[in-house]
Amino acid sequence: MKEFPTDFIWGSATSSYQIEGAAEEDGKGPSIWDAFSHIPGRVKNNEHGDVACDHYHRMEEDVQMMKALGLHAYRFSISWPRILPDGTTKQINQAGIDFYNRLINELLANGIEPWITLYHWDLPLALEMEKDGWLNKDIADSFADYARVCFQYFGDRVKNWITINEPWVISMLGYGQGIFAPGRVSNSEPYLAGHHIILAHAKAAAVYREEFAHQGGKIGITNNCDWREPLTDSELDQAAAQRALEFYLAWFTDPIYKGSYPQVMVDRLGDRLPTFTAEEKLLVQGSSDFFGLNHYTTMLASDANGEILEGNVYGNGGISEDQDVNLHVDPTWKKTEMGWAIVPWGCQKLLEWIHHRYDGPNIVITENGGAFPDEMKDGVVDDQDRLAYVKGYLGACHDAMENGVQLKGYMLWSLMDNFEWASGYAKRFGIHYVDFETLKRTPKASALWYREVIRRNGLKV
Ligand code: GAL
Repeated sequence: MKEFPTDFIWGSATSSYQIEGAAEEDGKGPSIWDAFSHIPGRVKNNEHGDVACDHYHRMEEDVQMMKALGLHAYRFSISWPRILPDGTTKQINQAGIDFYNRLINELLANGIEPWITLYHWDLPLALEMEKDGWLNKDIADSFADYARVCFQYFGDRVKNWITINEPWVISMLGYGQGIFAPGRVSNSEPYLAGHHIILAHAKAAAVYREEFAHQGGKIGITNNCDWREPLTDSELDQAAAQRALEFYLAWFTDPIYKGSYPQVMVDRLGDRLPTFTAEEKLLVQGSSDFFGLNHYTTMLASDANGEILEGNVYGNGGISEDQDVNLHVDPTWKKTEMGWAIVPWGCQKLLEWIHHRYDGPNIVITENGGAFPDEMKDGVVDDQDRLAYVKGYLGACHDAMENGVQLKGYMLWSLMDNFEWASGYAKRFGIHYVDFETLKRTPKASALWYREVIRRNGLKV
């Protein structure tokens, strides 16, 4: 058995827009995802999160589902426009505050530690329409004001805060490739949006530390990153893989752990990459109490030398050209339904890369999991492929920990099938099956297995 430390945190994660529904209820304002998902053609089958898993009305039942799993921690996000309908503190929506209070109290009453993400992509639409969202530097203050409201109302009971989920996705997919809200396509906006995301995180963390230290909690940011394995052991390919990791993860984590952007980004992006003032550097550096990591897959990296090959995962131009790396997947690797390669050793290598680059920070995996073509047969979903995926990745986590990596917790994505952004409801990531007609939840084989892993605090090998 691969045993985990006794204080290891076993969790599962969701996000507001993906599960809550109740999009226009009880005074909630619209978000950019409400608007984006209703533009024809942006989401598979024109699906949207109006109802999603209806978690807003089924919260108590969902907490019982978590309790049955034996979860130590539940990571969920607050919908910013549910508590501040136009994004500003002009109006605080009491019904929204009440909903999250009930959820937090219900979790604590059932022995589950709440881990709150303040921003999981559902930006108040008013901030996008009137202020250009993440492209406007003012957003850092708007976000800090919103965060303050959350600390004020919930911080007496909530001790684990994640400011922002996946800056890379917000920047690259929202402003670079345009496949996520707000759907913009540009090769400079991602770096501007990313810069403001870092400042927003840092300002919110400063508010927490300066005004709410007495609450005694922790605050950090969650970044996502795949592993980049050099295609060959040539120096050029090794440098390409390193560069790709720097353009992905270090873009956001170097400023926070080292005070500045990776030099390779500064050199290659020129004035498309904004700069931090001396004062901002101080604000940003050291602004995360833990290293939140979402990890799913691995790609092979080779030096492009100005020639982006057909089939490069990120297409021509944009990020591919900026980092000058060709990325593809080994055809022999097994893939999830998202087409993401299943490579547990990539997870171990990434954890060790983080450990060495940032002097052994406390890491929490805040997402890992997979979409598979689940089928309900006679009331049972026997998702052996998902179970094997999680088992493989957890094994890799354990191996990394044996090599010194300070991994403190693991949160499986996701607690239940939900609205998978541009893929709609077709891609199922849950360990609980959701019938989107009846909204009934059913534990899959992976849920029953994960319950045993948590109970044993270890993996049978
Ligand atoms: C992450 C995201 C989640 C979830 C997951 C699976 O990027 O934070 O919301 O959708 O990917 O695609």
